[in-house]
Parts: sequence; structure tokens; C-alpha cells
Amino acid sequence: MARTPGQAARRDPDWEGVRLHVVSGKGGTGKTTLAAALALALAADGGRVLLIEVEGRQGVAELFGIAALPYEERRIASVSRAQLGLPAAEGGPGEVFALAIDTELALLEYLEMFYKLGRAGKALQKVGFVDFATTIAPGVRDVLLTGKACEATRRKDPDGRRRYDAVVMDAPPTGRLTRFLNVNAEVAGLARIGPIHTQAQAVMRVLKSPETAVHLVTLLEEMPVQETVDGIEELREARLPVGGVMVNMVRPPVLDAAAVAAVDGDHREEVALALGEAGLGGRTRTGEKVRAAVEPLLDPLLEQAREHAERVELERAQRADIQQLRLPTYELPLLGEGVDLGGLYRLAGELKRQGAA
Ligand SMILES: Nc1ncnc2c1ncn2[C@@H]1O[C@H](COP(=O)(O)OP(=O)(O)O)[C@@H](O)[C@H]1O
Ligand SMILES: [Mg+2]
Repeated sequence: MARTPGQAARRDPDWEGVRLHVVSGKGGTGKTTLAAALALALAADGGRVLLIEVEGRQGVAELFGIAALPYEERRIASVSRAQLGLPAAEGGPGEVFALAIDTELALLEYLEMFYKLGRAGKALQKVGFVDFATTIAPGVRDVLLTGKACEATRRKDPDGRRRYDAVVMDAPPTGRLTRFLNVNAEVAGLARIGPIHTQAQAVMRVLKSPETAVHLVTLLEEMPVQETVDGIEELREARLPVGGVMVNMVRPPVLDAAAVAAVDGDHREEVALALGEAGLGGRTRTGEKVRAAVEPLLDPLLEQAREHAERVELERAQRADIQQLRLPTYELPLLGEGVDLGGLYRLAGELKRQGAA
């Protein structure tokens, strides 16, 4: 889109010009799920999106209901706006490709790239060098993973067209994230000249550029929110580009604000009456009998209401903490039936409706 210089300052930090989306968050909050949903959302208007899984769990294959992914980019889905429940527009459908990175193969590729090891690389594999290197130097693994993501982001086809319009990386959890993304800065410092230095610097240039955005997934719970707040501080200190916050598994409120506020009062009689009116205890009985019939229900019900009100209050406090971050925020519903392919497309549509992608 054409912009005047004045408009550039209002750049949308999480989507405008971003081509590498890094998705992190506390473990179990839905990183893999939302990375996949984001890839679908980004592809819906057309174009090619690569979804990279780095943790070796084959979570993407499981989500899409396909066989385990080889260490090779595979087309896993074609997606249109209509499939995401969005009104038709120009462009689309687009395609999602996926890659599950195999550390050992990535290391051989890396060695070949710089030292043209060829068959010697295979020999190294036989003597267990790869195991050795990846075990003694956990950093090496991260160099390979980030290197691969940046390579895919920059790759061009022979006709000069970008191979991928966007790359989404299902990254390690927040606790390890900054170290993971910054590993190439360390490498560039260690190898001060030569091809490894050059490669490491090129990776850092992509990761720290406005072409990259790191999104964090959280739940409306204390621990994941705290981890998100800390994670964003760390990213900012490391000068890595922060994108948006994705609040996952949001439950719809059952009680409205007035009902929540009223929970502390004594409402036994009111509730008993309402239950009677709703037909509990039998319509034909006399008032007293109804009261006796609904009596055993009262305490458990009021207790549930109190618990719900507590949760609503807790969530309100967590939302306030998230708002303080002043970042674009997206809310994704808790899917009661779990995340099947339909659910995944629903989450993708939700992301897009809220302005993501
Ligand atoms: N919005 C959601 N509604 C319901 N279940 C979800 C949702 N998002 C994720 N899940 C489920 O939560 C579990 C953890 O999700 P996953 O994406 O594997 O998390 P992570 O990659 O952060 O460990 C999975 O079983 C997934 O299906
Ligand atoms: Mg995961």
C-alpha cells in the first residue's frame, strides 16, 4: 500500500511488512495450534505461507490429520476466505506448506553449505559427530533452526519472486525464546570473521528487522500472563520486534457484570423462588413443598456462582495486565469440543476477523 512519510510512523507493528511470524508463549497455552491457525489466516487472501515446527513433536501433522512430516517442505492445505467464514474478496485461495525441522539433517545441510563437506558430512554422521555436536552445544541446534527460518523467509524462486509470502515459526516456549532468537548474535561474536560470522549476522539482521514479529500466546491465568509480561520485557531489552498477544481459550462469561457483583449478597430466597418458577420441585406442589425440593440445590448452585464470579474477577485482572502492555491483542475462544480441523479453521477466521493477517 502506498504511504506518505507521515503515515509510516503508524506502522502496524504485527502485520504491516512482517514476513516472519514467531509464535511463542508458555508451554501448553496453544502455540502450535495458533501458529497453524495464523498460517491459515495469512494464506487465505492468496499466496504461500510456510509453517515451521522446531520442537520435533510433529504437532502440525497431528493437527492437520496427516502423516508425520519429513524434513522437507510439504503442501498441507489450501485455504480460501470462504473456508474461514469470511466474506469474499480479491485474491485467494492460498496455500500452506509445512516443515518439521530435523536437527541432524539441518546440521549436515549447514556443514555442507559452508564447508562443502559433501561425503565427509555423511562420514561425520556415522561416527556420531552430529549427536556429539548437538549434545555439547545446544546453541548449535538453535542456530540451525533460526537459520532455516530466515533462509525460508528470504528465499527467492528463479523468477525472482519470493518463495513464501510469509513464514510462521512455532517457536520454543517463552522461557527459552530470547536466548533462542539471539543465539546468532553470540555466534557472530565467537566467529569474528568467515562464512559462519556472515551467516550469523544475516540471520540476526532478519530477526531484528521490521520483517519479523514475535507474537506471544497466553491464557487468562496468572502464570501465563506473568510469563508474557516478562517475555515481552526480555524481547524489548534484546531489541527483538514484538508483535501481538494472542489470548487463547477464552471462555464466554455466563453471568453478566451485575450478576457477578451480586454474588456476595444473600440471595438464597430469590434463587429458591426463581428455581420454583422455573419448574424445579414440580409446578403443582404447594409453595412449601417446592421450597423443600429445591433446598438441596441452593448451596451448590450459589457456590458455583461464587466460583464463577471469582474466575471472572481473576480474568478481569489478567486482562488489565495484558492491556498495560499496549500491544495488539487477539482473543480466541475455548473450543469445547477440542481442536479438530474445523476448529483450527474457526480460530484462523477469528484471528483474521480481529485484524490479524
Ligand atoms: N482455543 C482452544 N480451544 C480448545 N483447546 C485448545 C485451544 N487451543 C489449544 N487447545 C488444545 O490445548 C492443547 C495444547 O495446545 P498446543 O497448541 O499443543 O500448545 P503448545 O504448543 O503451546 O504446547 C492441545 O490439546 C490443543 O488441542
Ligand atoms: Mg507445541
